[in-house]
Amino acid sequence: MSENEVALVTGASRGIGRVIALRLALDGYDVAVNFLSNQDGADEVTARIEEKGWKAMSYKADVADSEAVEKMVSDIGNDLGQIGVLVNNAGIYQRRTFSDLSLDDWQRTIDVNLTGCFNCAKAVVPEMLEREEGNIVNISSMLGFKGTSHGAHYAASKSAVIAFTKSLALELSPQGIRVNAVAPGAIETEIIAYDSPEQRRGRIETTPVRKVGQPEEIASVVSFLVSEESSYMTGETLHANGGYLMV
Ligand SMILES: NC(=O)c1ccc[n+]([C@@H]2O[C@H](COP(=O)([O-])OP(=O)(O)OC[C@H]3O[C@@H](n4cnc5c(N)ncnc54)[C@H](OP(=O)(O)O)[C@@H]3O)[C@@H](O)[C@H]2O)c1
Repeated sequence: MSENEVALVTGASRGIGRVIALRLALDGYDVAVNFLSNQDGADEVTARIEEKGWKAMSYKADVADSEAVEKMVSDIGNDLGQIGVLVNNAGIYQRRTFSDLSLDDWQRTIDVNLTGCFNCAKAVVPEMLEREEGNIVNISSMLGFKGTSHGAHYAASKSAVIAFTKSLALELSPQGIRVNAVAPGAIETEIIAYDSPEQRRGRIETTPVRKVGQPEEIASVVSFLVSEESSYMTGETLHANGGYLMV
């Protein structure tokens, strides 16, 4: 076990979580790389971090499964040490009109995107309270503010993540735990692979900065929120969407 602070990034086998994990390693954290099915992706992330002489390990757990999350957090404690930073990034998106949206779709999305944040916070907060320090960043979405015509379940889950963030911040900040959120707009990952080339072009043309965001542009915001640079911020949501929220 080393002296570095430990960061758990959920859903870090690809996409935004992968780049957050790499960024936090660069920032000096030992990183626990959580994944659900993509072991190779998670192992690639840990290998890239270890190549630099830093510390990382992969952990398979479905964030929607509270027992699996408890076990993962206990394993991380044994392998790397107590978690000082939790980034609740794991999330799923299915493009569905309301007519096509089933109760199962709804439930799984809420279970992963919202209950997943609850399960992970529930598992790490007791140790943070003991140490009277900790940092939690929840990844929401611009759609949690704007709504969307093809993902009521997703937008509802991401909006709830904001209320969860503010509530935890109110309760836990007096005890040294800051809780903030990031609400990304469209970011270049597999999650937006639903977009047709026309939709992608249309999205770029209507985004004030005229591009789709990159995972690095979210990782840098997370890096700021878990750092001392943001020490007077809690319960906040930082929007990173190229201005699209204003359109
Ligand atoms: N990309 C965007 O445009 C965008 C915009 C706004 C918000 N977001 C949010 O940003 C976060 C990351 O999105 P992304 O675009 O990077 O998605 P992505 O490329 O689809 O990656 C999703 C990640 O989450 C993991 N995951 C999914 N379900 C999980 C579960 N039940 N337990 C543990 N891990 C799970 C996946 O693991 P496996 O690979 O192992 O299955 C993968 O590592 C999500 O919360 C998403 O809602 C994304």
